[in-house]
Amino acid sequence: MLFNRRNCPLAAAEAAASLDAVSRGRNVRFIGIAVLAALVAGGCGAATSTTPAGSDEAGGGTTAAQAAAATTGPEAPPTSAAPTSQPLPTSQTTTAVPVADAADSGPDPFEVNLLLARTLNLGATLEVAKDETWAQDIGPADFVAIAQQGFTAVRIPIRFSDWAQSEPPYVLDEEIFLRVDAALEAARSNGLTAIIDLHNYEEMSQNPEAHRARLIAMWRQIANRYRDSPTDEVVYELLNEPNSALTSQLWNPILAELVDAVRGEDPRRTIIVGPTDWNDNLALSELILPDDNNLIVTFHYYSPFRFTHQGASWIAGSDAWLGTRFNPELNDAGAIIDAEFADVAQWADQQSVPVFLGEFGVLEFADPADRLAWVRWVREAADQHGFSWGYWDWASPGMGLRNNETNSWDLEAMNALMPG
Ligand code: BGC
Repeated sequence: MLFNRRNCPLAAAEAAASLDAVSRGRNVRFIGIAVLAALVAGGCGAATSTTPAGSDEAGGGTTAAQAAAATTGPEAPPTSAAPTSQPLPTSQTTTAVPVADAADSGPDPFEVNLLLARTLNLGATLEVAKDETWAQDIGPADFVAIAQQGFTAVRIPIRFSDWAQSEPPYVLDEEIFLRVDAALEAARSNGLTAIIDLHNYEEMSQNPEAHRARLIAMWRQIANRYRDSPTDEVVYELLNEPNSALTSQLWNPILAELVDAVRGEDPRRTIIVGPTDWNDNLALSELILPDDNNLIVTFHYYSPFRFTHQGASWIAGSDAWLGTRFNPELNDAGAIIDAEFADVAQWADQQSVPVFLGEFGVLEFADPADRLAWVRWVREAADQHGFSWGYWDWASPGMGLRNNETNSWDLEAMNALMPG
């Protein structure tokens, strides 16, 4: 059966209402469970699909993946949370799992994934190269505002490669650590879980063998630096969007090596890993998960690409895409998203891993109503499968939710993300 979000129209709104109600209490673990509780209360059963999807130039198509499971345990909220015996919004009911940090091997990744339920990517901050000028200042007040908008987590894209020596031992500059420390502290004090995302290491994708040791050395240092952070406050993401020469054949063994390197420093931290082709869902079928029980799988979603990236300044020829519409009433654009997300859920069920939709977003050049419809459609698809999600992004030009001149928020897009 093809799972259709319209089977369950109230669930997302109820989830949003619950999230809004509890987010002010700053109990992020409760928030994640409340979202699931609301989905369950909305009568949103799970379903899977084997329906192949069509594809577009960004990669729409068939594949697979998961559904997050839920949890209860000693720290679960009292009666308002989902009872353990209730079915979960996933295609596979799971048994109760221990709360974070209950076991020596670290927290349960499904539970950590609940903390990432509504993540905001902090684009245009620490991802910016040293010699570029488009970085936005981000300070404590911004984290307060992000939490107030209802986000549960922030994904911090960081261009670590700009701050590491180019030769062994590839030492990272203390300056970048101080900046990351400040961001983590601001996130923590606002109840936001933080993802340390190693971003924009394009040299790694262009020439993997030349950069492999450097990437591993950077992660040893990062994991050593943050090994004492609580595991529900900090999560690692090893490499944003491996692509080009970094094929699955190369990436799979490097990924295993990276996880081993991190575990040597920080055995209990949840680690986010993703497939090649810019974290494309279609490449999940080629991803070999490292042998580790504390992983979350990520994918990025920008399909139809000519719609979301119309007019993108960094993509040659994208001006020709201006005017591309997203209209699920007239064509199969929405059904393709649904089918692809169902495939992701199915793959993840088979692998028993939780899923984080780490990036999705659309440029401001798209038709305004289409843009909101796409954001809502994708976000609902993620919610319905129990994927946590991260919107791209906070402040980058053309995609950010925050207007950098007026310091105001795009409230319509916020409503598409978190109605109510
Ligand atoms: C890139 C951004 C880009 C976004 C959407 C991110 O991973 O780092 O530069 O705007 O994807 O394409």
